[in-house]
Amino acid sequence: MDQQLEELRASALAELEQAADELEIESVRVKYLGRSGSISAVSESMKGLSKEEKPRIGKLLNEARTAVAEAVASRKAGLEAKRDAASLAGIDVTLPGRPIPAGTIHPITQLQDRAIQIFRRMGFALADGPDIETEWHCFDALNTPADHPARNEQDTFYLPDGCLLRTHTSTVQIRAMESMPPPVRIIAPGAAYRRDEVDATHLAQFNQMEGLYVDERVTVADLKGAVEFFFRELFGPDARCRFRPHFFPFTEPSFEMDIRATALGAGGKWLELGGCGMVDPAVFQAVSRSRGDDAYDPEKVSGFAFGFGLDRLAMILSGVPDIRLFGENDIRFLRQYR
Ligand code: DAH
Repeated sequence: MDQQLEELRASALAELEQAADELEIESVRVKYLGRSGSISAVSESMKGLSKEEKPRIGKLLNEARTAVAEAVASRKAGLEAKRDAASLAGIDVTLPGRPIPAGTIHPITQLQDRAIQIFRRMGFALADGPDIETEWHCFDALNTPADHPARNEQDTFYLPDGCLLRTHTSTVQIRAMESMPPPVRIIAPGAAYRRDEVDATHLAQFNQMEGLYVDERVTVADLKGAVEFFFRELFGPDARCRFRPHFFPFTEPSFEMDIRATALGAGGKWLELGGCGMVDPAVFQAVSRSRGDDAYDPEKVSGFAFGFGLDRLAMILSGVPDIRLFGENDIRFLRQYR
């Protein structure tokens, strides 16, 4: 039996050595170690052995079994390693990875975020309103009568139901006051629409930022202080603001604001950026009628408002010559503003 085991073990190891693939290895394993394999058969025939012989042969049997099982495992592992190596051949793991292109934040959004942050520091909260507006929020409540040229059909996009695409973000002033009592201190960035001929400085859809502060005893000095602080933060300490008397239906007095700063280049010229003024009492009255209370009694509260074009500001700030570039989504353009 000793010899038989020795032979089985030797032939099993030899066959394993010859096995070309996992299938062949497996069939050698079954042939020797399987339930009806030849080494297992030896274990069956041990029943007839004497008490003295049994432990000795048992030990040999175990050794043979272990040796064959170990050889099976190591041949399998060897094949697996070879397969792994083959699948990695041709891949140079020292090459740099392929970069995944990351997008950039749109330059108008970048400017808008900066502006929001500056106004936040002055206590302004972010407010919002719909792009599709009622005539009342866009015009009537803002003291803009039916015969005002801004209401011309040629100036605005009207919808069949009488609503329109808001021509300015000043609509959010009204919505903010309708929804909360004073004091209100809000900014409202967003899209505005006009039936403008599209050219290098005009788009039918553009972006504005509106601001409103209403409280007791708000004055023009507060307006100038807030606006000047904003532009200094944005353009640097040498930024200068100029307020030119103007007319807007919803403010009295009203101003146009100009700005000059080294950061803006343009040869030290004054650049017009937007409008502002003290909220007209007629606006407070319209809000009061809508609210049905006297929280915005023009005798008790006063406020300032302002609005400026974000696209125009971004153009000046980044030296972009054509407003259309902002909407074309050409990544060669956008990529420059990281
Ligand atoms: N809504 C005006 C426009 O689109 C800008 C503006 C002017 C907003 C004066 C204001 C303001 O709040 O007080 O041209």
